Amino acid sequence: MAKKSPPQIFGVLGFPAKHSLSPKMHNAAFKALGMNARYRIFEIEPSKLKPFLATLEKRGIHGLNVTIPYKQTVMSYIKRTTPEARIIGAVNTIKVSRNKLYGCNTDGEGFLKHLKTDLGFDPRAKTISILGAGGASRAVCVSLSNASPKRIVIFNRDRSKTIDLMHILNMNGVCTDLVAANSLSDPRLFEADLLINTTSVGMKESDPSLVDKRNLHPGMLVYDLVYTRKHTRLMEDAAEKGCRIANGLGMLLYQGMLSFKIWTGRMPPKKVMEKALGLQP
Ligand code: ATR
Repeated sequence: MAKKSPPQIFGVLGFPAKHSLSPKMHNAAFKALGMNARYRIFEIEPSKLKPFLATLEKRGIHGLNVTIPYKQTVMSYIKRTTPEARIIGAVNTIKVSRNKLYGCNTDGEGFLKHLKTDLGFDPRAKTISILGAGGASRAVCVSLSNASPKRIVIFNRDRSKTIDLMHILNMNGVCTDLVAANSLSDPRLFEADLLINTTSVGMKESDPSLVDKRNLHPGMLVYDLVYTRKHTRLMEDAAEKGCRIANGLGMLLYQGMLSFKIWTGRMPPKKVMEKALGLQP
């Protein structure tokens, strides 16, 4: 009897990483497509990161997702990165090919795909407000900047990150506005068609909403990148005010689908992945 070849290994690299939802959705897709592949969790402590990345091929690893705290750090070990990953300054997907690592970022593109495909929101000529200017915000903003929005209004506590992000967006031909760190009621934030929370505020059940609910209006789509909870306080307030709402699970789904395509060359079955994430009955 012919010996079965070992499965191709994929996984998520992080520290910690054990609560990741990615294994569920990728393993469900491998199974549905009848592929001899497995998706695992690689919780690697910082001192072991370099040797781990140097031995991926030997371990049978063909591709990785990268999460906290390594999205920036891994860039220095990667042979080639896409222009988008370089502009964002972070990699969330590594493809291993002939012992070389290639880095991409599918976070922003995943967000945009979910926004356009599932929520039917086209950013073209729209005003968009963003809370936060960290890694997630950069990924989302860079993708949005390719979709010709009218203006992106940014709020962040740390002003230097806002200025950095505005610079990137202006270089990409997007008009921007800065809302001062102590001005969360600035009307420019709420004239938007789309309000996105990219900060970590909302992850914990006890977290407040950063914005006063009186400023939200029914014409707005309120998108919270948090996906560890179905509804954040911001989303609850927005729903109460008649806004459409979305959490970060859709973005997680699409970034995963895009990573899967990069690693395997195949489009994963969306419905199977959605079901694995609990997005479908
Ligand atoms: P990620 O990769 O998830 O974006 P990050 O790069 O650490 O993580 O960014 C976290 C974001 O949440 C930042 O915009 C941070 O604001 P500062 O740059 O001012 O620190 C924001 N954030 C975290 N806690 C916050 C809080 N209590 N209020 C407002 N913003 C907060």
